[in-house]
Amino acid sequence: MTAFTRKNADKPTMLVYDKVRKNYGNFTALDGVSLHVNAGEVVCLIGPSGSGKSTLLRCTNALETTDGGEIRFEGRPLLVSDADMRKVRQRMGMVFQNFELFPHKTALENVALGLTTVRKMDADEARQRAMALLAKVGLADKTPNYPSNLSGGQQQRVAIARALAMEPHVMLFDEPTSALDPETVGEVLNVTRNLADEGMTMIVVTHEMSFARRVANWVVVFERGQLLEQGPPQQIFEAPTTERTQEFLSHLGWNG
Ligand SMILES: Nc1ncnc2c1ncn2[C@@H]1O[C@H](COP(=O)(O)OP(=O)(O)OP(=O)(O)O)[C@@H](O)[C@H]1O
Ligand SMILES: [Mg+2]
Repeated sequence: MTAFTRKNADKPTMLVYDKVRKNYGNFTALDGVSLHVNAGEVVCLIGPSGSGKSTLLRCTNALETTDGGEIRFEGRPLLVSDADMRKVRQRMGMVFQNFELFPHKTALENVALGLTTVRKMDADEARQRAMALLAKVGLADKTPNYPSNLSGGQQQRVAIARALAMEPHVMLFDEPTSALDPETVGEVLNVTRNLADEGMTMIVVTHEMSFARRVANWVVVFERGQLLEQGPPQQIFEAPTTERTQEFLSHLGWNG
């Protein structure tokens, strides 16, 4: 294997997964996953359907509990108490496949809501901040629109702005483009890439191999709840060390 330097290896580690296990009844969804994420890294999780990628994200922000091993976020184990968990969630932004916006609120209100309720900002300040965030994701002219009057790509960008409003230390994306029409995928990937360029720490579950190849500095391949392989994109996409990774990529039509 060629030598490489992992991005920000000298920076504090933001997330550590140490032999993480997750069971659903008799089924093992995560089977001893060990991984770390440095501040400022973009880590892409790839792998077949059902391999545990979403489960790992859901365990990360404690939408699910784990059954073994440990997840440490900014130096402290997760799941200490409910109060701690709420604080932890505020430091993690989550973006889902299906946006999950409030349908009866405008784009502006969707972004401002957490600012007034969780962050206790006054309404005017929250409005200003929400406008700035919507401008940042290219939606300055869509602030009064309800989700039903936005395209999928626009809705997803509102969801990203909403997550950013909480000033998260890490952003977790679960297939942010897989519910989108092909023509709007690019605008969401561009927003995501800009965040990466600004140094946001991100974990991105994606089926967009070209995005993972270009934007991730570290790629993790899952299969059946285990890590098949992890490494820089040059390794994973050009010289995978396992046959299963090669098979997975060639199934997707990836040929370097
Ligand atoms: N609440 C649940 N109860 C039982 N089994 C579950 C539950 N959630 C997930 N699983 C199972 O755990 C496994 C991992 O699921 P997960 O959603 O993490 O896969 P994934 O890698 O994200 O797949 P995809 O690419 O299709 O989104 C799957 O076999 C799934 O059926
Ligand atoms: Mg999933």
